[in-house]
Amino acid sequence: MCGIVAYVGRKIAQPLLIEGLKRLEYRGYDSAGIAVIDQKGAMHIRRAVGRISVLEDALQRVPTLPDASLGMAHTRWATHGAPTEANAHPHTDDTGRIALVHNGIIENYAALKKFLTNKGHAFSSQTDTEVLAMLIGDLYADMQVKNQVLPGTSLLQQAVQAALHEVDGTYGIAVICKDEPDTLVVARKGSPLIIGVGQEEYIVASDASAIVEHTTQVVYLNDNEMAVLKPGSFRTTTINNITISPVISQLENKLEEYELGDYEHYMLKEIFEQPSAIRNCLRGRAEQKESRIVLGGIVDHTRELVRAKRFILTGQGTAWHAGLVGDYLMEDLAKVTTECTYASEFRYRNPLVEEGTVVVAISQSGETADTLAALREAKEKGALALGIVNVVGSTIARETDGGIYLHAGPEIGVASTKAFTCQCVVLTMLALFLGRRKFMSQSVCHEMIDGLCAVPEQIERVLEQSDHVKQIAREFCDRENWLFLGRGYHFPVALEGALKLKEISYIHSEGMPAAEMKHGPIALINEGMPVVFIATKGSQYDKVISNIEEVRARGGKIIVVATEGDTNIHKYSDHVIEVPHALEPLQPLLSVVPLQLLAYHCAVARDCNVDKPRNLAKSVTVE
Ligand code: F6R
Repeated sequence: MCGIVAYVGRKIAQPLLIEGLKRLEYRGYDSAGIAVIDQKGAMHIRRAVGRISVLEDALQRVPTLPDASLGMAHTRWATHGAPTEANAHPHTDDTGRIALVHNGIIENYAALKKFLTNKGHAFSSQTDTEVLAMLIGDLYADMQVKNQVLPGTSLLQQAVQAALHEVDGTYGIAVICKDEPDTLVVARKGSPLIIGVGQEEYIVASDASAIVEHTTQVVYLNDNEMAVLKPGSFRTTTINNITISPVISQLENKLEEYELGDYEHYMLKEIFEQPSAIRNCLRGRAEQKESRIVLGGIVDHTRELVRAKRFILTGQGTAWHAGLVGDYLMEDLAKVTTECTYASEFRYRNPLVEEGTVVVAISQSGETADTLAALREAKEKGALALGIVNVVGSTIARETDGGIYLHAGPEIGVASTKAFTCQCVVLTMLALFLGRRKFMSQSVCHEMIDGLCAVPEQIERVLEQSDHVKQIAREFCDRENWLFLGRGYHFPVALEGALKLKEISYIHSEGMPAAEMKHGPIALINEGMPVVFIATKGSQYDKVISNIEEVRARGGKIIVVATEGDTNIHKYSDHVIEVPHALEPLQPLLSVVPLQLLAYHCAVARDCNVDKPRNLAKSVTVE
């Protein structure tokens, strides 16, 4: 969602904040803003609607911002109020003394706004964030009058603490005050904040990508914690002012991993990174010689996992699609009752969590609000909670009882690609880990591990067909309705193919089980409608061929993802994209790749902003 970056130290803050915003832009991009406090204690704010480049242009105009070593910036994904300059962050109180940037939602903002309006405060935006800035300003003024500063604290810190006690909802905030021109106060509840610890300087951000260029030493704030940062010193406390010793961690990812390199878009880079991402994901875990799966992050729970009666896999969007693949894998390979459920539904439906239930939260970012809430609900009900997460140190990763990291490297493109395949790889390893401890023979496990280790090289072969997929995309990119159909393991792949296409090229597309088509959606098929089938050689191949015939008979254009060397399929199709043969449980890892490419090339052909599709943000930290 929105991105925050803030700085206090000895350097000039502005270039550093703008660079940070650019790295965070994938989190939200409808407006952006910056606030700095100069050495004389004057506050300077610039805001602009649109991308960071628009803000950059605004900053070039005279009067430019003076040099300042304290400041913060924000890139917004609108929740309350339209994307206008007035609604862009930073927001100030009505004296202009306090400025604040905020990720999250203040749920009781209406009541607080009424209270503050009755006290005579005037608002200039429709945002919940301005209410929080105003509340802090109001409390600050009160405390100043009453001369209430506690020893060892700053008035700003106290005012922020007092305000946060009045607030319901979620926040990651950075606050500055022109009366305290060397102090940055940050706090979090439900929205991530990371403090980068440098040489007499601190850079705080909602995501490591804005920090890694400056330092790899970080402190992850937990919920209900805050920090007061000054050049050369910082103190972390709870929002009740209890001091906490900060734990300094090392960032895992390197700066190069966040760079675009020679690629035109992050999405394409990440599609092409899948072989190396999967190799990293498998490294040290899938042991071919011993036919063994080693999963250090869950090994302490082996007994509970092997005895578990039921697994609930949960996530949102692409992560949910991976969970659906996992559902098939767990029942097929580990022979354990499994269901895959949307986290947003799970958390509110008062789910049945009996003894022996394991809940697995799947999330690339590890910050998705619904997935986090589902995880907390599951823990509350006594389930063993595991995470399958990419971002190390993220909230979900830290709140689970155990888990398996993807090690896919940073995913910047808003449309998830390499995270999906790595999530499927991890779920395959989890199913093998359990299956082997239950009913699976060594030879079956051996065959699966060999198959899994061959996947990166097989994906490389699929990627060689990018130009062929581009031709198909060019032929059909102007069609406004598409269908994606698959059976068994390929049903979730069909869903994922449709999601990729709709989210980045704004084409209406639906994915469904191929057999479901006859129960209604077949009415949609008309002359020339592109219908993508995943029809690799496997147990349901003949049935999918029958479904292809049904669509052809109604004039649909048939694009098929098929097994290399399947000459038979050509007579049923207008276009064929080949993928290497793989064991059935591994086929999604290959068949999804042409669909990612198809979506990518369609979006480029339609001149869409691939990495920053409209209305979307990378990590959905509000419900
Ligand atoms: C689609 C996409 C989203 C995410 C979903 C969950 O391409 O990226 O559907 O998969 O928002 O995000 P994470 O995995 O971060 O929990």
